[in-house]
Amino acid sequence: MRTHYCTHVNETNIKETISVAGWVNSRRDHGGIIFIDLRDKSGILQLVADPKDSQEALRIAENIRDEFVLIAKGTIRARGEGLENPNLKTGTIELVIEELIIENKSKAMPFDLNDDKVNDEIRLKNRFLELRSSKSYDIFKLRSKASMQVRNTLDELGFLDVETPILTKSTPEGARDYLVPSRVHGGEFYALPQSPQLFKQLLMVSGFDKYFQIAKCFRDEDLRADRQPEFTQIDVEMSFCNQEDIIKIAEKVIYDVFTKCNKEIPKTFKRMTYNNAMETYGTDKPDTRFDMPLIDVIDIFANSTNDIFANIAKDKKNNRIKALKCPNGDNIFSKRQMKGFEEYVRKFKAKGLGYFQYKEDGLKGPLTKFFSDADLEEIIKITNLEVGDVIFFGAGDKKTVWDYMGRFRLYLASLIDGMIDPDSYEFLWVVDFPMFEISDGKIKALHHPFTMPKSLDNLENLEAIESIAYDIVLNGTELGGGSIRIHKEEIQSKIFDIMGISKQEANDKFGFLLEALKYGAPSHGGFALGLDRMIMLLAKTDSIRDVIAFPKTQKAQCLLTQAPSGIDELQLKELSLRIRKQV
Ligand code: AMO
Repeated sequence: MRTHYCTHVNETNIKETISVAGWVNSRRDHGGIIFIDLRDKSGILQLVADPKDSQEALRIAENIRDEFVLIAKGTIRARGEGLENPNLKTGTIELVIEELIIENKSKAMPFDLNDDKVNDEIRLKNRFLELRSSKSYDIFKLRSKASMQVRNTLDELGFLDVETPILTKSTPEGARDYLVPSRVHGGEFYALPQSPQLFKQLLMVSGFDKYFQIAKCFRDEDLRADRQPEFTQIDVEMSFCNQEDIIKIAEKVIYDVFTKCNKEIPKTFKRMTYNNAMETYGTDKPDTRFDMPLIDVIDIFANSTNDIFANIAKDKKNNRIKALKCPNGDNIFSKRQMKGFEEYVRKFKAKGLGYFQYKEDGLKGPLTKFFSDADLEEIIKITNLEVGDVIFFGAGDKKTVWDYMGRFRLYLASLIDGMIDPDSYEFLWVVDFPMFEISDGKIKALHHPFTMPKSLDNLENLEAIESIAYDIVLNGTELGGGSIRIHKEEIQSKIFDIMGISKQEANDKFGFLLEALKYGAPSHGGFALGLDRMIMLLAKTDSIRDVIAFPKTQKAQCLLTQAPSGIDELQLKELSLRIRKQV
């Protein structure tokens, strides 16, 4: 029906007769002549319906409204002098309509595609319309290009693309499962995979050696700007490899994708241990686009005459006192803002937030009276203070201090003009993750329970056991993670045992894995990168929803299809289900 896309014509096509097809982006009636901006996936071309060229075309154009679907045939001509539009790729030409077909009409649009302020509910309900915007189309073009590149790179490296089941058994990654009731086996359920983790390990036992998949994963967890219940991973596994081999593959995939998408990044990325990341940035996914490290001042605070600080400083193993320098903070922030900072950290369980201002005549602030002059000098020295800087202090148990000081660091930086370069890409490998974390008295695997511990010789202090696990962080977002896996059944059983999973439960849940590990499982490891997050960062958008064609809301609903929705009595009966009244 078409000979050209709208923007695939230029001045070299003048006098040629062509056909274009697309949607009416806008229509202007100049009394007797009608101008139509026609839009297709490539962009916009101006059409002109002039009675001199076709009375019929003008008659049809009079009935046209925004978003009607048109097929137009006509001749390309140069626009008159002074009528060019420098904002359009085709701004120097136009198509003079000779034949015009309205292929379909359109209701008035529920929102303006170019209006950023339209609320999310209207956008998501009409997502198929929102996707008509060039901004959306460009994102999906980028996404397609990126995933093609992933396939090409991994194919070249000898990885085999294998699909693993969606209707399966639980694959724990720390979230709740989405469950699907079985009709044939009444009362029994499939779980949708939180990741292909166990299947990719089984493929290593099968001798496939190198596997990858661009895999859909499902996790029922609290949603955030970078989380969706249904998302996509670039999932990779290989045999007979160590951490270095895997890091090399991940770096190559990321480098190739970013290069394909015209972003310059280094070929290898910096590294930091988990412990160092927590101590320096208060988080295992530090944003290293700016510095502002947390500085340990517990030894100086131990000398303070303030009982609270002195007591906290007594337990150096479990507590921390961390300083955060805000360069020029005294000139940037008002007293009221400084008060607001305390309220900010209190939301994350801080008991308070101390601060000193560095004035011409030394450190000032309500807390200075608790310190000797020598200790105040020492604070200036180790934090490298300059006049005008403000220094904030967090004190308490280490996990709480890391958490709120880490968040506060990000918050402060976001308030300071020029602190974060929005165009930079800072990658960081965080390595040597602890194997376990203990929260609410429960022993959990920090990555997942299939991760190889460095050693199980000392079980006295479980939180000190390190694992061969690594995360890749980009601009403060966890882009992916992986590990070397346990390939020996005895070690896997031991880990379940440490985590308080009984033999019976381990067999019920993971019996197939434990069994497979008994049949000559090779050493293996891998990683998974969040494809949606990667596109989000490449496209520089701040919501993961923008990069998923049909995303869900914060409440895990699809407003377009109204999923999830009720089912009728017959279906319930077939599935052996009865709905209890919602409590
Ligand atoms: P992990 O759980 O770290 O590892 O997931 C890997 C990456 O997947 C992305 N991701 C998400 N993206 C969007 N929405 C979500 N709800 C979501 N959850 C995770 C993140 C994350 O870094 N099986 C292991 C990998 C391995 O060990 O090989 C795994 O799934 O970018």
